[in-house]
Amino acid sequence: MAAVIEGIGAWLPPRIVTNDDLCTTLDSTHEWIETRTGISERRMVSEGMSTRDLAVEAGVRALKSAGAATVDAVVLATTSFDRLCPAVAPEVAHLLGLGTVPAFDLTSACSGFLYGLATSGGLIASGVADRVLFIGAEAFTTLVNPEDRGTAPIFGDGAGAVVLRRGDADEPGALGVFDLGSDGARADLLAIPAGGSRQRSASAGLGHDTVPVEDWYLRMEGRPLFQQAVERMAESSRGVLDRTGWSVADVDWFVGHQANVRIVNAVADELELARDRVAVNIGRVGNTLAASVPLLLNDIAHTGALRPGHRVLLSAFGAGLSWGSTVLTWPDIPVEAVR
Ligand code: COA
Repeated sequence: MAAVIEGIGAWLPPRIVTNDDLCTTLDSTHEWIETRTGISERRMVSEGMSTRDLAVEAGVRALKSAGAATVDAVVLATTSFDRLCPAVAPEVAHLLGLGTVPAFDLTSACSGFLYGLATSGGLIASGVADRVLFIGAEAFTTLVNPEDRGTAPIFGDGAGAVVLRRGDADEPGALGVFDLGSDGARADLLAIPAGGSRQRSASAGLGHDTVPVEDWYLRMEGRPLFQQAVERMAESSRGVLDRTGWSVADVDWFVGHQANVRIVNAVADELELARDRVAVNIGRVGNTLAASVPLLLNDIAHTGALRPGHRVLLSAFGAGLSWGSTVLTWPDIPVEAVR
């Protein structure tokens, strides 16, 4: 028994923000951002649009790709919730017309798609569900300080989704072994300090806010994260390749989390993987956290670069710290373009 991908879909909000757009208010340049990150533009939600809306759009497309009208559960990976409570997934299930199925959110930042695949596969393995809609959706730019040149250029909004069904381990689309890990000793390298139980606003009834405004925004230490991202993704990738019995030469596509093109290339170099097998779309989407890997899969499958039968290595790394990798053989499923 295995969880098998039977549909994929993705969606980007229509608002395109170029590096030049950002630099009208940010102390940076298009050249710096593109050279240091590989990003030229990203999408951002407009006023009134939230993670829920992105998730629904990606969900519709994944269900259509799978030819599925119903699922037994909805799992949503996000680190940019619509509200602190409740989870986004139940509302997404409702809006998709999926009724009262089990639905919950999972938070693992940029490795959310890998953690979510493993969790969704687990629902199938445990008999809770035969078919799961799993979505990674993020409106994370709403949590980034637009005046912080260290973080504002990096992130973008978007969503990607897959439908998983119960199937056999030797079928195309079957999820392989997983390598997942975390390092909470480095939790502060990428964090939004306020809004949770540790540091929340005490303003209710007091007429003032005790939390400094910058604590509501993302704080990031770029350099140590860069190094950790390369180390962890390379090690984790090697782990799943070894356990699967694949050599690096067996990998047709490395689909790594799009945090920085230099990170993805450095992981490929560590693995001694040729650049023409490294999938990249960060230039037009930025870092979309849990949506990054499915957006990229959707992109390369739609262009025909990723074809049925290709062997794919997926790997991601993010806040927590957390990371994960898996492998699969790409199935023959319809894929719609993401504009
Ligand atoms: N525009 C212009 N200059 C900038 C800048 C910007 N947007 N951001 C930083 N700089 C400057 C810094 O102030 C610094 O100047 P100094 O040398 O005078 O002090 C210089 O550029 C180098 O800064 P540094 O932070 O060392 O740059 P970097 O090459 O490490 O690139 C990141 C910064 C954030 C792009 C890079 O560290 C990165 O991608 N890290 C990983 C982030 C990540 O993966 N986050 C999500 C985890 S999933």
